[in-house]
Amino acid sequence: MLSVDEAMTSRRSVRSYLPDAVSRETVAHILNVAKRSPSGTNMQPWKVHVLMDVAKERMTNAVLKEFYGPSRPHEHEREPFYLEKMREPYLGRRRKVGWDMYGLVGIEKGEKEKMKAQAAENFRFFGAPVGLIFTVDEDFGFGSWLDIGMFLENVMLAARGQGLDTCAQAAFGSYYEVVRTVLGLDQTQTVVCGMSLGKEDSSAPISKLITDREDLDVFVNFLDE
Ligand SMILES: Cc1cc2nc3c(=O)[nH]c(=O)nc-3n(C[C@H](O)[C@H](O)[C@H](O)COP(=O)(O)O)c2cc1C
Repeated sequence: MLSVDEAMTSRRSVRSYLPDAVSRETVAHILNVAKRSPSGTNMQPWKVHVLMDVAKERMTNAVLKEFYGPSRPHEHEREPFYLEKMREPYLGRRRKVGWDMYGLVGIEKGEKEKMKAQAAENFRFFGAPVGLIFTVDEDFGFGSWLDIGMFLENVMLAARGQGLDTCAQAAFGSYYEVVRTVLGLDQTQTVVCGMSLGKEDSSAPISKLITDREDLDVFVNFLDE
């Protein structure tokens, strides 16, 4: 059994998976653990759609069709999803993880087709046997999105407890219309993000990606007087 610290520090966004199946029982176990997440006034605003086998393939095919279709701006339903205009220090951190990742898979500056092919891997859930899509009632506000964030992390940590890996994927939110159609949802649901779930293929170059974190003095303010 992993300690809480081990579960947190061993979690990484995994972008290459072994084909080994994950049982429905294991997914249910992970979600039963994660559902103990706190939520403001215990509203439990999260909804999870578990995609396996042909259902996962249906999602992949539908989103990839859109992804490779006539180009149009793809945005999250809730904009801006991060920032209206990226600025430092966030921009630098974002660029670093992107270039570190591209470096590992041999993509250089300007290789747009290769970048697009790497981005497409999102919609194959990076080869993971299970794909999760998280949705929320479209009229839920900031507090409920905060709750879902905690739920997402708990899913990722509960997966570690089962020896499994994950990658949260906001990429699915850019294709909310097609995702909703495949899931048979109407416009009362908004797509928050997707998540790959499976066992890491540790032999893949991309699995060597270790992301940075700032020291405490950058983001913590200790006050004692
Ligand atoms: C809400 C959320 C959405 C994310 N969306 C994507 C995504 O669409 N594609 C992807 O490859 N990684 C995605 N990530 C992973 C982040 O890039 C990753 O968490 C960050 O670079 C830190 O790396 P680590 O998770 O390995 O510690 C997402 C993470 C979060 C929390």
